[in-house]
Amino acid sequence: MKDDQAQQLKFAYWVPNVSGSLVVSKIEQRTDWSYEYNVRLEQTAEQNGFEYALTQIRFTIGYGAENQHESVSFSHALLAKTEKLKVIAAILPGPWKPALAAKQLATIDHLTQGRIAVNIVSGWFRGEFDAIGEIWPEHDERYVRSEEFIRALKEIWTTDQYSFKGKYYQFENYTLKPKPLQQPHIEVFQGGSSRAARDMAARVSDWYFTNGNSVNELVKQISDLRTKAALNGHQIKVGVNAFIIARDTEEEAQAVLQEIIEQADIQTVQAFGKATREGGAASREGEGNWAKSTFEDLVQYNDGFKTNLIGTPQQIAERIIELKNAGVDLILSGFLHFIEEIEYFGEKVLPLVRELEVEQQHVVSAKSA
Ligand SMILES: Cc1cc2nc3c(=O)[nH]c(=O)nc-3n(C[C@H](O)[C@H](O)[C@H](O)COP(=O)(O)O)c2cc1C
Repeated sequence: MKDDQAQQLKFAYWVPNVSGSLVVSKIEQRTDWSYEYNVRLEQTAEQNGFEYALTQIRFTIGYGAENQHESVSFSHALLAKTEKLKVIAAILPGPWKPALAAKQLATIDHLTQGRIAVNIVSGWFRGEFDAIGEIWPEHDERYVRSEEFIRALKEIWTTDQYSFKGKYYQFENYTLKPKPLQQPHIEVFQGGSSRAARDMAARVSDWYFTNGNSVNELVKQISDLRTKAALNGHQIKVGVNAFIIARDTEEEAQAVLQEIIEQADIQTVQAFGKATREGGAASREGEGNWAKSTFEDLVQYNDGFKTNLIGTPQQIAERIIELKNAGVDLILSGFLHFIEEIEYFGEKVLPLVRELEVEQQHVVSAKSA
C-alpha cells in the first residue's frame, strides 16, 4: 500500500437496518430499512469511497425504531452484494454467547473473503433485555462481561484448545475450525465511552467507537484512551460518530439542522433520554456516551450533531482533517437522505479531504527531511 493511502482516514456509515432513520424527527428522511434499499445504499457507499458499514442490534422498539432486522444475518446479506466493503455486525453479550458468535463470524468471514467485522455493544436499553428474558448487570458490570466476551472471541479465533474459567463464560479445550480468514483475527470494534468502556478498549478492543463530540472533547478522550492503552502495551484505533449535513452553502446546511430539531419527535426523544439515564448513560464518573447530551443532541441518537460536520464541502473537509489531527482514524457517518447524500459526499467532500491529507503529508515530510 502506498504511504499516502496508509495515512488515509477511513469512512463508515450507519446501516439503516432498523426503521425510523437516524434522527428522531418528523422531517422527511429519504431512506429506508428494507434490504433492497440497503443494497443500493451499500453499493453507492462502496463506489463513493466508504470502507465500512455498521449495522445496529435492537431487539425491541426504542427511539422510534419500530422494526429491527437482526444485525449478523443482515450484515452477511449485505456482504453478498459488495466486493470491498467491510460490514461490522453489532453483537450484544447476553443474547449472544462468545462460542456462537466466534463460530458464526468465522463462517461469514469464509463466505465473504474476509470482510466481516464485529462491534461488541454492552447495552443501554434495559427494557429490551427484560423483554427477552436476559439478565441486566449494572453498568460497569456489563463491561466485565463484554471484556470476557472479546477475550474469548480473540482466543477462539487464534488458538487451539482454549480453556477459560471466567465470571460469565467458561471453556474447556475448545478448538474452532476453520479459523477465520482474516489475520490475526476478525477486527473487534466496541461502542461506549464511559470509564469502564474506555478501560476495556485500552485492554482488548481493536477499535473504540464513540458518540459525536467536539474536537476539544475528543482530544481529551483520545489522549486518556491512548495513554492507558500504551501502559497495557495495546494499540487502539478510534472511530467517531457524525451526522453529516453537506450543502452548497452554510446557510442551507444550518437550515436543515434547524428543521430537524424543530420537527423533533419530542416524546420519543425524551423517552430515549430517560432510557439512556436508566441504563447508566452517565455512569458513576459522568463520562458515558450520553452523559452530557442535551435534548437537541439526543435528536440524533448518537450525538452526531456535536461533531459539527455541518456546512459546505470545504468546511466539512477542513473539520474532518481537524478530527484526524485529534487522533481520529475513522468517521462513522449518518445522513438525512442517505443515498443521495452519500453520493454528494463522495463527489464533493471526500476529494477535498484526500487533497488536504496529501498536502498535510507533504508538509510533514518536508519538515522531517
Ligand atoms: C458507534 C456505536 C454503535 C452502537 N451500536 C449499538 C447497537 O447497535 N445496539 C446497542 O444496543 N447499543 C449500541 N451502542 C451503545 C453502546 O453499546 C453502549 O451501551 C452505549 O454507548 C453506552 O455506553 P457507555 O455508558 O459505556 O458510554 C452503540 C454505541 C456506539 C458509540
